[in-house]
Amino acid sequence: MIKTLRRNTEISQSKEDKTLCEFATEVKQGLELHEKTLPSKYFYDKKGDALFVEIMNLPEYYLTRSELNIFQHKTDELIEGLDLQTNTYFELIELGAGDGLKTKELLKCLDTQNYKFDYFPIDISSNALQLLKKDLNTELPNVSVKTKQGDYFKVLDALKESKHPKVILFLGSNIGNMTDTEASQFIYNLGNNLNTGDKLLLGVDLMKSIDIVLPAYHDSKGITAAFNLNLLDRINTELGGDFNLNQFKHQPEYNEETGVAKSYIESTAKQIVTIKAIGKTFNFSKGEKIHTEISRKYNDALISKIIENTDFDLQTKIMDSKAYFADYILSRS
Ligand code: AVJ
Repeated sequence: MIKTLRRNTEISQSKEDKTLCEFATEVKQGLELHEKTLPSKYFYDKKGDALFVEIMNLPEYYLTRSELNIFQHKTDELIEGLDLQTNTYFELIELGAGDGLKTKELLKCLDTQNYKFDYFPIDISSNALQLLKKDLNTELPNVSVKTKQGDYFKVLDALKESKHPKVILFLGSNIGNMTDTEASQFIYNLGNNLNTGDKLLLGVDLMKSIDIVLPAYHDSKGITAAFNLNLLDRINTELGGDFNLNQFKHQPEYNEETGVAKSYIESTAKQIVTIKAIGKTFNFSKGEKIHTEISRKYNDALISKIIENTDFDLQTKIMDSKAYFADYILSRS
């Protein structure tokens, strides 16, 4: 008994150590660059998750509401575009399910119209998955929810065994955190885990005026600022950093021509930061910026270019009533 316990703690300990080590390595690499960067994937610890939920409810953050509008009013178009048949079983797989707010609208429709399917939400956070499953089991008791915790591609690789038709949901413009090259590679890899005729529903934010985009990343309550600066907080608590959060500020920008929104953390003073776990100090000049996130906005030409060398064809585009956001349906050739 004691032995098993010991072994389990050792295993979980080493897994945690590995994540922490990766975090330290990536922070070191990013901060040693001439143009400093930190990876946006580290936004999402417990506090970051909660702040992101707050962001989704902000009046300025139109993205979630726009995509919800599609899922509330264009469900028939979605179902038709996805080529779903009531008499053919399929697997509905969602990458990074979150709270499932939008997906729930689709699930509701599929359920009332008697489609035969299982819903597989995939997420890195087992906590988020448990909450989602509980919520769905109460609200839509007929829908079979099979949660899968882990890395997207590892889970997809396991799901590949089944030869049932698949629909992959990748919503919320989550792909926008990738560079276009990374996005192409990602979609190409998805294709490797699918069969001919399988579908990818890709939700992306569209290019539009700076007056609409920039406030979404610079809200009046400062929630996005707290979300961005939480990265430094994480480095302080997890890696023994001494970032003074009062001497750094959130700095977003948006380029209307390229459609790229970028978030930075700007040093408001000349200062030196020590990070114990890295065993190094980092100099910041006044006004120096750390690049923390890209949130790409798209149009048809960009989407075509991104999927050009993948095994997907563009099938349909469905937009919200304001044409702020699009759900593209891609079909595996
Ligand atoms: C979850 C990646 C879609 O880029 O709009 C929100 C994250 N960052 N506010 C986005 C985010 C700042 C969001 N995505």
